Amino acid sequence: MNKAKKLYLETFGCQMNVSDSEKIVTLMKGIGYQQTADPVEADLVLLNTCSIRATAEQRVYGHLGKFKSMKKQKPGLIIGVGGCVAQQEGERLLRKAPFVSLVFGTHNLHLLQKMVSGAEQGKQSVATDFLDDEKRFDLFPHAESEGGVSRFVTVMQGCDNFCAYCIVPHVRGREISRSADKVVEEVAALAAAGVTEVTLLGQNVNSYGFKEPGAPDFADLLRLVAQVEGIERLRFTTSHPKDISPRLIACFAEIPKLAPHIHLPAQSGSDAVLQGMNRGYTRVQYLEKVRALRDACPGIQFTGDMIVGFPGEDEACFEQTMELIEEVQYADLFSFIYSARPGTKAAGFPDEVRRAEKQARLERLQAAQKKITLARNESFVGGVQRVLVEGPSSTGDALFGRTGGNRATVMNGDPALAGRLVEVRITEGLQTLLKGEILDV
Ligand code: SAH
Ligand code: SF4
Ligand code: F3S
Repeated sequence: MNKAKKLYLETFGCQMNVSDSEKIVTLMKGIGYQQTADPVEADLVLLNTCSIRATAEQRVYGHLGKFKSMKKQKPGLIIGVGGCVAQQEGERLLRKAPFVSLVFGTHNLHLLQKMVSGAEQGKQSVATDFLDDEKRFDLFPHAESEGGVSRFVTVMQGCDNFCAYCIVPHVRGREISRSADKVVEEVAALAAAGVTEVTLLGQNVNSYGFKEPGAPDFADLLRLVAQVEGIERLRFTTSHPKDISPRLIACFAEIPKLAPHIHLPAQSGSDAVLQGMNRGYTRVQYLEKVRALRDACPGIQFTGDMIVGFPGEDEACFEQTMELIEEVQYADLFSFIYSARPGTKAAGFPDEVRRAEKQARLERLQAAQKKITLARNESFVGGVQRVLVEGPSSTGDALFGRTGGNRATVMNGDPALAGRLVEVRITEGLQTLLKGEILDV
């Protein structure tokens, strides 16, 4: 009998890569590979890479070194690299790491089965062409639903915004939307398999649409997906503040299934820096969107991304970022030190902020946010939240779920509640999670 071949897959970067990796698992299953968590068992190693920050390429090469030595022990081992570094490096990756068998870019998942089968015959291959056609979303079956409570569904890919610091438009290509029918079809299939929550996914979901008269925009798409029976909660990510329309804001007031949370990266609180970043909004415009969202949906939770040390950011600019986080009161914030990426506009800007200064600013920002997060979590104590139960908590002796505002919550209860929305009285607000008691079942 043929022993099942084993796939070891490592995923780096954003939800887009996580979602692509789910598809990779399904595709590899189709040609006889079972996933394993142990690289030593693997017949096929795939790295799904991210190039958002400096030294990403070096890190991938460093990481590959480990598998090179494994291949010495096991010459049949197939090593492949996909995702954003693969897109960027292409052929160069094979030259620098000749023990790699396949390099597949961000638009080339549909070729993966063929490439791996070729590698089994000793063939090396590279595929990094962009495929600017919405058909590419549905050239292969969707990721298999293995039950689960919450899933991502891709609605668009790529980005046309070209923020001055960002590599994503270069490695993910132009913005392309997937047809609303296909999105609804996938959501309905997930609902039929027992999924309760979907997160609509794209680099900038707010600019979803075919921009033809009568074609659905993102607000329309949300309404269509909300009609799918069995889906109890709806989320989306990521949003660009400049593209949040009044129609989209109204969705938070009008679609009960839409969770009261939005990830709305500001990147900086300073107009001069925002302009250098090519973000397309001012601090005041950002705050207006925040206020409009709060008006439409009192209690909505904000999360965001912030970059410190962008070229031209002086102490006064940074203070404006510090003030912005106090004003918005983010539930959570992801903050990064600016790093220059090859081929981006900002890579040509003189990088005046000293490394030690960038680090000090990051630490100040993170310390201030930590306090805000804790105070917000404490503010929920005594109130009732609707929590979607995802399953057992990491310690195994309680249940884990998320509030509508996307706060991690732990409570006691029957594991059979997984997938259900329950009312929870919050008893404790800690730094990274809430604790509570289920009120009714
Ligand atoms: N499409 C999303 C995510 C982009 S990448 C969006 O527009 O929000 C995720 C985050 O990484 C960005 O929001 C930004 O804060 C950070 N980032 C991107 N490029 C960076 C760079 N060159 N240096 C530091 N942080 C960066
Ligand atoms: Fe990058 Fe800006 Fe596009 Fe986000 S909107 S992916 S930060 S270029
Ligand atoms: Fe990284 Fe590519 Fe996502 S660069 S953040 S994995 S789109």
